[in-house]
Amino acid sequence: MQGRFITFEGIDGAGKSTQIEVIHQAIKARGIEVVRTREPGGTPLSEKIRELLLTESMQPETETLLFFASRAEHIARVIRPAMARGAWVLSDRFTDATYAYQVGGRGFSAEKVEALEEWTHGGFQPDLTVLFDIEPQVAAERLAKARQLDRFEKESLDFFTRVREAYLTRARQYPERFLIINSMRDKDVVSDELRRIFATWG
Ligand code: TMP
Repeated sequence: MQGRFITFEGIDGAGKSTQIEVIHQAIKARGIEVVRTREPGGTPLSEKIRELLLTESMQPETETLLFFASRAEHIARVIRPAMARGAWVLSDRFTDATYAYQVGGRGFSAEKVEALEEWTHGGFQPDLTVLFDIEPQVAAERLAKARQLDRFEKESLDFFTRVREAYLTRARQYPERFLIINSMRDKDVVSDELRRIFATWG
C-alpha cells in the first residue's frame, strides 16, 4: 500500500489555504486517510524553524539551508510514514517553493538548490503539484485585506513577479506533475473545478 503526495504552491495571497480545505474534504469523502501539513513546518522542530524563517532577517544561504533542514525532518517524520501506511499527504508548499522564492525571488543559485534537493530527498518527488496562479497585484490586494504580513509577504511586487515566473517555469519543466489553476477567478468557481478533479484523481 502506498499513499500519494500532493503539494500546493503559488505566491502569497493566491488563495491556497481555502482550496486545500476543499480538496481535503473531497479526498476524505472517498474514504481515504488524508494527512494535511505544511512547509516550512509540519513537525515540532520544523515549526520552530518556521518561526525563525518568518521573523528573523538572515543571509540567503542561511534561509535556504533552514528550508531544507525543516524539510528533512518533515519528510522523515511525517510524509514518508504517512505514505507508507497508505495515507495521502497534502502539503502546503514543498521544494518547488525554494526554486520559486529563493532562486527566482532572491536570485540564489539554482545549482546549489539542486544539490540540496538531491541530498535531502533524491528521487522522491510529489505525485502532483497544484499551482495556484495569480497576478502579484491581485494577490497583494487580497493579502492586504486578510492579515498581518510576515517577512516574505512584505516583499515587493517585483519579487512576487519573479516568484510567479519561476513557478510557471517549473510547471513547464515538469508538465506531467503540475496542475495549473487560474486563481484569479471567483473562489467558488475554483472550488467547484477542484471538487470535480479530486472526485476521481489518483
Ligand atoms: P506560507 O505563508 O505559505 O505558509 O509560507 C511561508 C513563507 O515561506 C511563504 O512566504 C513562502 C516562503 N517559502 C520560501 O521562501 N521557500 C520555501 O522553500 C518554502 C517552503 C516557503
